[in-house]
Amino acid sequence: MSNSQQKTVNFLRGVPSEEALTKLSPLASQGYRKAIENYGTQVLQYGHFNGFKPLRDILGKMHGVDPGRIVAGNGGMEMISLIFKMLPLNSHIIVEEMTYDRVIHDAARYGHQLTGVKLTPEGLDIDGLKAAFKKTRAAAFYGIPFHQNPTGIDYSPENREMVENVCLEYDALCIWDICYEPLRYDGKTNTPITVSDWGPILVSSFTKTISPGTKCGYMVLPEKRIPLMTKIVANTRLNPNLPTQAFIADFIGSGGYQEYLGYLCELYKPRMDALNSALNSHFEGAYPAAVTGGFFSVIQLHKIPVEKEAAFLAAAAEKGIGVAAAWDAVAPDLRAEKQKQGLLIRLTFPACEPDQLQWGITALKDVSASIG
Ligand SMILES: Cc1ncc(COP(=O)(O)O)c(C=O)c1O
Repeated sequence: MSNSQQKTVNFLRGVPSEEALTKLSPLASQGYRKAIENYGTQVLQYGHFNGFKPLRDILGKMHGVDPGRIVAGNGGMEMISLIFKMLPLNSHIIVEEMTYDRVIHDAARYGHQLTGVKLTPEGLDIDGLKAAFKKTRAAAFYGIPFHQNPTGIDYSPENREMVENVCLEYDALCIWDICYEPLRYDGKTNTPITVSDWGPILVSSFTKTISPGTKCGYMVLPEKRIPLMTKIVANTRLNPNLPTQAFIADFIGSGGYQEYLGYLCELYKPRMDALNSALNSHFEGAYPAAVTGGFFSVIQLHKIPVEKEAAFLAAAAEKGIGVAAAWDAVAPDLRAEKQKQGLLIRLTFPACEPDQLQWGITALKDVSASIG
């Protein structure tokens, strides 16, 4: 960036970086060509309602389950929405205090009531989870255990297990959205979740690990839920995007996906390091945990109450920083309480250069000092 250009940074868009998509482009191009050449009308015709069989076979193997328990479709959000559709209307669902905002909106479409439970740096507050179940008799819990959206928290395996046990005790579905599991940049690997006959239900997406445009996700369900889900799928959208699924099956099967994940982790690591170091320098104590992967972190600015929110966001925009209040991501029942604690901002980093991130966080600190 030349000195004459004003620096800008957009913390709003949780999108893969352009260079990652450029790197993917020839692989995807080749992959789609191969899909059509290999499978022809099989992937151009109706069919495979629960997903392209070769992809379900690969995913079944990956999670150690019968492929009949896999439903592959058009993205993680579609899978979540189908699960919400499977629950009785107006069910109670427990979620993390902050979660993926679209999940909150989509659950409301089915009349589901959400109850938020506090997060800790290790995962979910277990006593809070038990209290929420006692109060609501919820039908399900939905959580994002790996590099959580939006807090960046990575649950410990022990915490995940405790959550699963509480769900079992209350006979509720435990739905883990694992879409950020492979995106760990600190050189370590996340311990995968073991799936048993009862569950937990896993939902995942290739949006962040391959591309949002290709739009593919899947879920792992208990076998007894498959007949009802198959009916819902058939009545909702018939088949998913089959050329995409054929491409992804081959991408995984050939080892290309694993290689691409390695590239992504290397690309995003310096960005994550820049974010962590800038947050540590300028917003110590304002974010829940150092980020080890994924796409997000949040900060809460105690000195910016609701009345100063608009002035803060305008001053940030004036400086060239794209941020917004993240209230949509807060569980509805906890929103008012959270709002009393100051402005909440979601930060996303993979699409930004390290120096941009450093500059942006420093500039945000200046804005905060001038408005707060
Ligand atoms: C936690 C979580 N789940 C699901 C999704 C949506 O995935 P898809 O684009 O595959 O619907 C996202 C996307 O940002 C996400 O953050």
